[in-house]
Amino acid sequence: MNDPAASTTYDDTAVRQFSLMAVVWGVVGMAVGVLIAAQLAWPELNFGIPWLSYGRLRPLHTNAVIFAFGGCGLFATSYYVVQRTCQVRLFMPKLASFTFWGWQAVIVAAAVSLPLGYTSGKEYAELEWPIDILITFVWVSYAIVFFGTVGTRKVKHIYVANWFFGAFILAVALLHVVNSAAIPAGWMKSYSAYAGVQDAMIQWWYGHNAVGFFLTTGFLGMMYYFIPKQAERPVYSYRLSIVHFWALIFTYMWAGPHHLHYTALPDWTQSIGMIFSLILLAPSWGGMINGIMTLSGAWHKLRDDPVLRFMIVALSFYGMATFEGPLMSIKTVNALSHYTDWTVGHVHAGALGWVGLITMGSLYYLIPRLFGQKKMYSVPAIELHFWVATIGIVLYIAAMWIAGVMQGLMWRALNADGTLTYTFVESVKATYPFYVIRLVGGLMYLGGMCVMAWNTWMTVANGRSARAVIPAAAQPA
Ligand code: HEM
Ligand code: HEM
Repeated sequence: MNDPAASTTYDDTAVRQFSLMAVVWGVVGMAVGVLIAAQLAWPELNFGIPWLSYGRLRPLHTNAVIFAFGGCGLFATSYYVVQRTCQVRLFMPKLASFTFWGWQAVIVAAAVSLPLGYTSGKEYAELEWPIDILITFVWVSYAIVFFGTVGTRKVKHIYVANWFFGAFILAVALLHVVNSAAIPAGWMKSYSAYAGVQDAMIQWWYGHNAVGFFLTTGFLGMMYYFIPKQAERPVYSYRLSIVHFWALIFTYMWAGPHHLHYTALPDWTQSIGMIFSLILLAPSWGGMINGIMTLSGAWHKLRDDPVLRFMIVALSFYGMATFEGPLMSIKTVNALSHYTDWTVGHVHAGALGWVGLITMGSLYYLIPRLFGQKKMYSVPAIELHFWVATIGIVLYIAAMWIAGVMQGLMWRALNADGTLTYTFVESVKATYPFYVIRLVGGLMYLGGMCVMAWNTWMTVANGRSARAVIPAAAQPA
């Protein structure tokens, strides 16, 4: 991997802005997650106010954590990495600035319109058509800045992290444009361009690849840059990283129908979704092993480097979620897991464990460097964050796994005469303690994020005061 050339100064304004907003939106999105987790245990917590109702806040949570927290983290890291590995400044920095302000406008529009009840009703694509158009402009600009930087690079080779970031940008553009196609019926109302089973198929082609490309491929780009950097070791196998890349992006595209098992979708389509999901285990684990083995000969670093620990534990959760996913895609397993909290447990093993921890680890690497510091203000606070977050994840996902399997078994239990053993409400009642445990886990995870926000604030403030005492002429550009 190429190190920053001494002669090149980079354009990090957008990187700084996106990094800080990732932390801010992380706190906001997770706080909404905690609120809806509390509402599932105590429904009266909506206080009878429509915009505080679960149905409106749930998409606010998913949009905030995926697109605001995860999205800002991806913009920040991709802009940082592409400059260092191509040894050039960002292509069209003004356009990069537009992507920052445009993306924040999208997030604010989501934060206002979703609680007001405006939704297209498509999961992870709920935003109405005017916001969708803004997203398209921002995303095309992002592609121009990113690929423009790659195109003007000073080194021949394109480092593998850029392949992952590039595939994420292209695939998300394709998914967004196709799935959001709609016929407007007013400023905040539209109807999907597709009907019936085709609509469902396109929605879950989108939905699964939102997982595959937004929540996975971009973060693998982070992994391939920040783990070698933090571990001070080269990638374990560069050849494997290339095989990993092509196998992953080819396979993900076909797995969407596993979200539609036992529906009106043709049976053979469901089987194809299942088979490709099973195949997906191989590239997923290949990538995970490549990341973890990068630590070969440097395992001792895990003992005293909490930032590296964030990254490596993220990969362990990635391995766990990508083992569980193929298992859940098997039709007979899905017959039990679908509609239960097992799915929610699987989601958060990936979301809290993989997406959350790899982003936090990468930001802990980035933030001091972006604000002229050698390390974060408090390393013990990073340590504290790591432990509360990890214990929080374990509580969250273990509670959901137990609740999910229990629900599935209760719903299918039959008496000797063929009648149902349990009423639905009995399964809801049995789930109650697990919702409370999940809430405790969520509170811990949010608490860790708040510690990170404080640590970031102090690091930035220290960077500012350090700069204030150095004469301007002696400061780095
Ligand atoms: C403090 C941390 C968090 C808490 C307490 C939390 C809580 C929740 C709750 C209660 C739900 C609704 C589950 C249901 O409908 O039964 C949910 C859904 C979801 N959350 Fe989180 N969440 C947290 C963090 C995150 C993060 C960081 C991400 C992504 C990076 C994420 C992604 C999602 C997704 C994708 C869903 C939808 C799941 C589905 O449809 O099956 N969450 N979350
Ligand atoms: C090999 C990789 C993976 C496979 C094959 C896979 C498969 C599955 C399956 C079968 C479901 C349940 C579908 C249903 O019953 O409705 C599911 C749900 C889900 N998975 Fe995965 N998964 C994988 C990795 C991941 C990762 C790494 C993440 C997060 C970063 C993730 C996020 C989700 C989300 C958000 C849902 C819920 C979608 C919804 O119903 O709203 N998955 N996945």
